[in-house]
Amino acid sequence: MKRISILLVAATSFAVPACTGQDPGTGGGDDGSGSGSGSDEWDQLLGTRELDYNAALKIAALRLTGDLPTMDEIVAIQSAPDDAAKKVAYETRIQDYMGRPTFTRQMVAFWRDTFKMGETAEMDAAPAFAAQLSVENRSYLELFTATTGNCPTVDANLTTITAANCVGTGPQAGVLTNTGAMKQFFSNFAFRRVRWVQETFDCAKFPVEISGTPQDVGGAAPYIGVWPFQSISGLSTGRVNFQDVSAVVCANCHQSLNHIAPLFANYDIMGVYKTTISVPTPLDNAPMAQLSDYLPATEQTAWRYGVAAADLPSLGAAMAADKDVQKCGVARVWNWALGKTDIVDTLQEVPIETVQAQVDAFAANGFKMKDLIFAVYTSDDFVKF
Ligand code: HEC
Repeated sequence: MKRISILLVAATSFAVPACTGQDPGTGGGDDGSGSGSGSDEWDQLLGTRELDYNAALKIAALRLTGDLPTMDEIVAIQSAPDDAAKKVAYETRIQDYMGRPTFTRQMVAFWRDTFKMGETAEMDAAPAFAAQLSVENRSYLELFTATTGNCPTVDANLTTITAANCVGTGPQAGVLTNTGAMKQFFSNFAFRRVRWVQETFDCAKFPVEISGTPQDVGGAAPYIGVWPFQSISGLSTGRVNFQDVSAVVCANCHQSLNHIAPLFANYDIMGVYKTTISVPTPLDNAPMAQLSDYLPATEQTAWRYGVAAADLPSLGAAMAADKDVQKCGVARVWNWALGKTDIVDTLQEVPIETVQAQVDAFAANGFKMKDLIFAVYTSDDFVKF
């Protein structure tokens, strides 16, 4: 009886927030209030735009350096004789901006925002690593695969990043194994850590693995997932009924969550890696989770259905190979350049053709971050109004 009442609480107070667009962790207040423009509006706008390098310069300077362009910088573009010369002057200035210490500061701020963490040495290691990849034009995929140098420090001015290895004995996989992130997003069952990874790097909320053929599993609504319905624990194998269908179909989200979360479960409340599961459950007296609570014994951890991941480095490798994860990285840079807020809610506003061209170029170019930023800030979609 007791267990059932807990589960009803879980159904209402945990599942619902996951669907209502709240951000994980402390990043609150950011309601993702994009402009709400649909694709028709985009198409119309795209057709009528004209080149305006000075307008673009103003936005680029604010984003890339935190300051407005100087009079000299404005005049250099204004006085260029034609569009071709203006383009050269503008692109040269973008490179100049991205070489300044203030660009490092802007990058740290951007990644703090994106990761919803930062401002102490522990919480800055992950954003500083992402900033370092951006400033040094390294591969975005190192966020998921780096095994050394993934806990750099940043000075008080946020203009100098110094490489450092992460401390501790746990596995290393970019920022996925970051102590600060594991601490910030600690929760029952490690589900909040999974949500952070999902929303930050895949730009979408759960449910994320949706089948074209929904199945009747005896609930009011069908099961829409791709994993076999029985592939996550119910009460015959675990202590929480993830196969419950009475209020909502838990499995729609938990098919994915439960196959990923055990990988993050060995980090304790301080984000420190332990050799055993160190996250609690919402059951009476908050006992520690057990593997059988997530999955039947026959199941293995995975990033997605058919994409097994036995440990966090494997998860990182699977994410690095995931086209949606790559696209999310590009979309986030676009979102930032265009001044939008929460990508998880606004991704669909950036025209897919625009993002796709950049994604292809990104992949062809070794996922180099600074080149991506340059490409976005110099693209037609940025310099035309
Ligand atoms: C729409 C997707 C979705 C559905 C449906 C869903 N969950 Fe979850 N659940 C999540 C996410 C995401 C989290 C992590 C939320 C967070 O901490 O930010 C979570 C967290 C939880 C937690 C841990 C909560 C805590 O105490 O921190 C439990 C337990 C849980 N879910 C059980 C269930 C059960 C049981 C059902 C069905 C009755 C269900 N969920 C339905 C997405 C979902």
